[in-house]
Amino acid sequence: MEVRLENLTKVFPGKGTGKNKAPDVYAVNDVTLTVEDGKLLGLLGPSGCGKSTTLYLIAGLHKPSGGKVFFGETDMTNVPPENRGIGLVFQNYALYPHLTVRQNIGFPLDNVRPRLTKEEKEEVIQQVAALVDIHNLLDRKPKELSGGQQQRVAIARALSKHPKVLLLDEPLSNLDARLRLQTREEIRRIQREANVTTIFVTHDQEEAMSISDTIVVMDHGIVQQMDAPQVVYDEPINLFVAKFLGSPAINIFDGELKNGALYIDGKKYDTGKEYASKGEFSLLDKGIFAHAVDHGFKQLEEEYFAMLEGRATRHVHDAEADEEGNVPTELVPFELNRESIFDYICEHGYTGKYEDFSLAVDLLREEKKNNRPVKVGIRPEAFSRVPVATKGVIPVDIFFIEHKGRDISIIGKVHGQEGKDRVRIIIPAEERVNVIGKEKIDLYAKRFYVFENSGTRIK
Ligand SMILES: Nc1ncnc2c1ncn2[C@@H]1O[C@H](COP(=O)(O)OP(=O)(O)OP(=O)(O)O)[C@@H](O)[C@H]1O
Ligand SMILES: [Mg+2]
Repeated sequence: MEVRLENLTKVFPGKGTGKNKAPDVYAVNDVTLTVEDGKLLGLLGPSGCGKSTTLYLIAGLHKPSGGKVFFGETDMTNVPPENRGIGLVFQNYALYPHLTVRQNIGFPLDNVRPRLTKEEKEEVIQQVAALVDIHNLLDRKPKELSGGQQQRVAIARALSKHPKVLLLDEPLSNLDARLRLQTREEIRRIQREANVTTIFVTHDQEEAMSISDTIVVMDHGIVQQMDAPQVVYDEPINLFVAKFLGSPAINIFDGELKNGALYIDGKKYDTGKEYASKGEFSLLDKGIFAHAVDHGFKQLEEEYFAMLEGRATRHVHDAEADEEGNVPTELVPFELNRESIFDYICEHGYTGKYEDFSLAVDLLREEKKNNRPVKVGIRPEAFSRVPVATKGVIPVDIFFIEHKGRDISIIGKVHGQEGKDRVRIIIPAEERVNVIGKEKIDLYAKRFYVFENSGTRIK
């Protein structure tokens, strides 16, 4: 069963009244996504980003403030939870302690209509118990089971009514590391065998990466990126996603854009069209349109650009009279400059002063200019001791070296960087001899990312 969310939004009103009223919380903010039939979607993000709320909206346990939930072609937005055909598993498995495993799994089947016979019920229990590999534990009570076994009972119970959609909210967080690993593989196997569309919530990026067909990274109720795990890892859309995925985390350090090139520690590191040159700022910049709209300008984007691109003309009597006092009467092309744009947007509702407008243009221009600080991201495993392609050198001051299985980690900092941001570089243990005893080494990056300080990815 395909699950589709359309502009799903949940706002929790801020508590209190008047001046003391807390701001509203946009727990889920305009989320649109599709989970394909039979696939596992991992919903990933930091605490408070809206994962559970999204799940509750899909389950029908919360009513959305806006947007819709579809299962296949059916609009489920106003269908009560018990009629949605979902199986739910929470972090605390909430098994009934006084019931046996068999009774726990069979419990949801009691309100199936038409009623199941005793034999039919037992058949379902046997079937799902076999699926989660607990068929020899059916007569035990929950307290006689390990955490992992209890978790599997909770999953069996969620599967017993053959849900169309399985919703799991941090189902593994009460398990120890080893059991977590084992149980997550179990969940994956069960999900594949039952072929049930599943949404799996976790804040553990490694868990999400390993179990999901697709991951969604959320922050502040907003979907940042949705794609196959490897794609999100390799092509993070912004600084937040780059930092959120990867263990050990990506190294982020300061770089600088100057005259269309990237500099690290004052030396040219890379060039490319991404590092736009100064000449590229134009009065046709979309940012100017956005500024105008924010300040009352009322016209569609298309007309605005058509007008400015000189397709429209203006009466010259807007222009000044010549020396002889003649006011020209023919039509001439609209000249594109700050003043003419300002006049034009004022005619269509712009409420700002000329100074406001001009300042906004200056700021945009500054932003587009190529002399600005940026953030450079390199994953620990993406360094190389030998030159790669035409990329420049990254000089690293070494603090110390750690052994990590077959590899070593160099902990240090990029030479010339202020502050205490450390970098971690993972290289094969054989390279140790080339590093040991050195205070500084030159490294190269097989892969790197460049971000605006605001987080937008440039390259
Ligand atoms: N019933 C509620 N009333 C008011 N605010 C709420 C309610 N439930 C959640 N919130 C707020 O909505 C936001 C999202 O919460 P949610 O529980 O969905 O986060 P989460 O991603 O599941 O976090 P965690 O990883 O900690 O479980 C948070 O800011 C939270 O405080
Ligand atoms: Mg939660």
